[in-house]
Amino acid sequence: MLTPSSSAPRTALVTGAGKRLGREIALGLARAGWRVAVHYRSSEAEALQTAEECWAISSAVSAAAIPAGTGLNPTASLKPADFIFQADLADESATRQLLPAVVAKLGAINAVVNSAALFEHDDIHSFSYANMAQHWASNTGAAIVLAQALHQHCAARNAHAAEAIVINMLDQKLWNPNPDFLSYTLSKAALEAANTLLAQALAPLVRVVGVAPGLTLTSHMLADEKFKQLHTLSPLGRSSSVEEVVSTVVFAMQNRAITGTTLLVDGGQHLMKFERDFSLM
Ligand SMILES: NC(=O)c1ccc[n+]([C@@H]2O[C@H](COP(=O)([O-])OP(=O)(O)OC[C@H]3O[C@@H](n4cnc5c(N)ncnc54)[C@H](OP(=O)(O)O)[C@@H]3O)[C@@H](O)[C@H]2O)c1
Repeated sequence: MLTPSSSAPRTALVTGAGKRLGREIALGLARAGWRVAVHYRSSEAEALQTAEECWAISSAVSAAAIPAGTGLNPTASLKPADFIFQADLADESATRQLLPAVVAKLGAINAVVNSAALFEHDDIHSFSYANMAQHWASNTGAAIVLAQALHQHCAARNAHAAEAIVINMLDQKLWNPNPDFLSYTLSKAALEAANTLLAQALAPLVRVVGVAPGLTLTSHMLADEKFKQLHTLSPLGRSSSVEEVVSTVVFAMQNRAITGTTLLVDGGQHLMKFERDFSLM
């Protein structure tokens, strides 16, 4: 396992980290030596649980890395509740306050993982400006505002080149499209385009990398047996596991030569052609 290179704590904000993939990414980053600011919208109890588990992992990592009695524990005066941050990312004002709130509480921040996402079904027959706007704000606009804020923060503190990174969670379905979840897909397609544009605009301070999972976690729309069956639909015979998605995020954050690209972690699902979204197959 690689650990951060300097003795100063490296801090990552993970959005939507109360549950599911965001939570697992937060725990994976804690295991890799990062301090994690846990963002949530409505899942406060779950976010606190994530922060407590990150805290326990970080304490163990620090204890192993820092000789006892040196007084270097950077989180000594904080408690897990100091690491959770609430914001509705559909609200631009709330989103703009998020990264400054993390900096005010935790100090310098080096990474944002845009994992939170709105995933509500619509299609060409039910499409509306209102639904599109909600997906756009939550999934695209918020990710861009947080990237902008990270860059401003890095510029203000004279950060080194490539010291900071934005991870944008994308989706294999952008390369294997179907007409379901129209607004979600459009919002993620715009984020995939923004991934390139932001990498150009925010270099050299901030790297920008997309991570696109395949079917990894089930949803309320899929029974367990159906999920297991769909998970095998890929050239490699299985889609991505949570561990594989998390390790890809950690890898992208540690490899300072990667920017402006997307790592697909999906067992090759993007090479196939599905007529419907998994949840509607
Ligand atoms: N799961 C998969 O198999 C899969 C596959 C491909 C891509 N992905 C991508 O990977 C990422 C994580 O997936 P996931 O399945 O873990 O996501 P998810 O369960 O659908 O959503 C994660 C969290 O996003 C937060 N969220 C939604 N709208 C928000 C808003 N307006 N403001 C703030 N937070 C908001 C919610 O937080 P609260 O609960 O606190 O409200 C929710 O718990 C997503 O970007 C998704 O597109 C996932």
